[in-house]
Amino acid sequence: MIKHVEKESEQFFYIGNERLSCILKIAFGKAQLLHLGAPLGEDDFAALGCETLFGWGTDVLYKEGDSRSCLDALPLAWSERGSGDYRESPIELLYEGEDICPDFVYSSFAVPEHEEPDAVLPHARGEQETLRLVFTSKNRLLEGLTLELRFSLFETALVRQAVLMNGSDKPLRVTKLMSACADLHGRFTVSTFDGGWIRETHRHTVPAAQARVVNESANGFSSNRHNPGFLLSETGATDDAGTVYGFNLLWSGNHRSTVQRSAQGFTRVLQGISPEGLCLELLPGGRLETPEAVAAWSDRGLNGLMENMHRFVNRAVIPPAWQSRERPVLYNSWEGCMFKFSEGKLLSLAKKAKKLGCELFVLDDGWFGARDSDTAGLGDYSVNRRKLPNGLDGLSKKLRALGMQFGLWFEPEAVNPDSECYRRHPDWVLTPPGTDAFQGRNELLLDLTKSEVRDYIVENVSAILDRADVRYVKWDMNRHSPVSGNKAYAYILGLYEVLHRIFDARPQILLEACASGGNRFDLGMLCFAPQIWGSDDTDPIERLDIQDGLFCLYPQSAVGAHISAAPHSMTLRATPLSTRANAAFFGAFGVEFDLDGMKPVEAAELKETIDWYKQHRKTFQFGRFSRNRAEEGAVCWQVSSGEETLCALFHRLVPAGPEIEWLSVNGLEPDRLYRVEARPQLLRVAPFGNLLKHITPIELDAEGMVVRLADRHYTMRDGGFSAECSGAALRSGIPLAKRFSGTISNGF
Ligand code: GLA
Repeated sequence: MIKHVEKESEQFFYIGNERLSCILKIAFGKAQLLHLGAPLGEDDFAALGCETLFGWGTDVLYKEGDSRSCLDALPLAWSERGSGDYRESPIELLYEGEDICPDFVYSSFAVPEHEEPDAVLPHARGEQETLRLVFTSKNRLLEGLTLELRFSLFETALVRQAVLMNGSDKPLRVTKLMSACADLHGRFTVSTFDGGWIRETHRHTVPAAQARVVNESANGFSSNRHNPGFLLSETGATDDAGTVYGFNLLWSGNHRSTVQRSAQGFTRVLQGISPEGLCLELLPGGRLETPEAVAAWSDRGLNGLMENMHRFVNRAVIPPAWQSRERPVLYNSWEGCMFKFSEGKLLSLAKKAKKLGCELFVLDDGWFGARDSDTAGLGDYSVNRRKLPNGLDGLSKKLRALGMQFGLWFEPEAVNPDSECYRRHPDWVLTPPGTDAFQGRNELLLDLTKSEVRDYIVENVSAILDRADVRYVKWDMNRHSPVSGNKAYAYILGLYEVLHRIFDARPQILLEACASGGNRFDLGMLCFAPQIWGSDDTDPIERLDIQDGLFCLYPQSAVGAHISAAPHSMTLRATPLSTRANAAFFGAFGVEFDLDGMKPVEAAELKETIDWYKQHRKTFQFGRFSRNRAEEGAVCWQVSSGEETLCALFHRLVPAGPEIEWLSVNGLEPDRLYRVEARPQLLRVAPFGNLLKHITPIELDAEGMVVRLADRHYTMRDGGFSAECSGAALRSGIPLAKRFSGTISNGF
């Protein structure tokens, strides 16, 4: 519900539901955020009114003589420089070339029933229960310059946006306009999700202090360096208890969030587009909408926060056609074939993939132009007839005849200098003024701020999608941007327009975004693409950190995760198929290696694995995710829905003589009896090498034919068990079957 109370010259607003509430106050013409978090009573505003906060010493007062008007001491929902608040400001404007103090004074509020979203920017899709409140403020200097602060309370998250409208007759420039500003009370740590290519979203935690923590991307995209999402955890919060806030942004370009504790003990959080190099002209009659900023809260620790964040993303961000819809098990040609394939090879892979249980065949890079390596062909859309003599439609028909859907890779935003597109339109390339167009992965970006470039992409991609009955698109983008500031900002708007034009009319297509893996993993892209390729790194041990980070902000169904070959091409780490599968289960699952070289044991195990996954896919993709207690260095992920709870316990290294391990399961009913089944791990013969001679009656050559033959056809089962016990016992922990630990002295 929304409640509005007027008390003398002050106004209070309560917006709340059963899980989350927010209390706002207007005093001295400025909006304060008194509370964001627990669902309080609608009348609790009185006690939170901050009557006790005032300025002292050198502090500046906004209303002369009224010490309560020290803006620096108040928990503000918005702020401007020059009015006495010396914390970081969310807005900076240039008027007639001068930096002005953008003093906005509250004038009215509205409770709109519907959203009126900007046509291009992605936005959270509200439901009937979504509560909306809008404050309008007028600028003191420029008559007609108006600022709207929008608050939308979803079931488990607050979405905010700032809108600046220039109703004056003078142009002005916006050098900073953040989406949200909040001053929270409490002592926090800040967790950001950082990394680089093949090492995305590793969680790093530092204390929120008076020195500012800045989480910012500058490569033109939401980036693999610093994901826009971050957490604030109250001191002492754990996975299961304590207050945790989660923040994110519906934006795919340069972003910036800052966290800073003030002298008075509030922690200021700003979220928005990065102001670096930004100087946007706002002409008379113009309007500038920021991307939407999200804040979720829980007092049930990180697990509670993830539940709330996932719920919000699943219901309000993921395109409606794919919400709660199980994702097909896909086979992707990239790691198995790279650029080298023929129609015959693809069909051979597709037949095998079909037998294993895959439902969708994705042809990755290499199908167009002169694309035999990553040095040529990007930007061209003519099908490479040498590899695909029957074209994409021919291949697609044959795949359908096999009972598989057809998916296709595109990288429409980029061009190789060695391409027909570049030769015809060298002026379409995005080039920073005053310098050369430097290449990244042998490619340049197309200038998506040009309408002819957008038309070229929309027309070419759409024609292919329709002709070949494509049901899945992997939309890739494989370099950092060469531009910053206004141009980088306009580029992302151009990208959103292109995505709207292609995919709004084709809801049957499952879109998976990708930017060399996670270089653009954000809520903006998720508004179009229900899933995003988590990382080019498919090594399951590396994926533990990458996916663990992603799950703090994004639901499992949004994270593309595949089984690839072992040893892994990036780490040379050899892992059992079961480990690779266990990590990939917790995402939009697929298979990505050359199936033609598979041994019979691997094929049998993979088929059994995919069959088993499909029986539990709904829980893996949409179940409630949590992190469970695990010994140091280990990771235990859990998903639950209805009657089913699935846990996976991962170790990074094998310790000798391991201690007994205990599994503790969250969220069960204490008095209910549960059946526990452990999936056994299959052990291959060959890795035992020379140790085999200790258990076989004859001495076998570890690399000889007998061992090789045995390795192709036999596996040993390890670690399976079943038990029955109460939810209470499972919560406190049950001992697991002892892990494999060989000793030569007793013949294993
Ligand atoms: C990027 C993607 C990969 C693959 C290649 C193809 O690296 O992240 O998954 O599609 O491009 O060139």
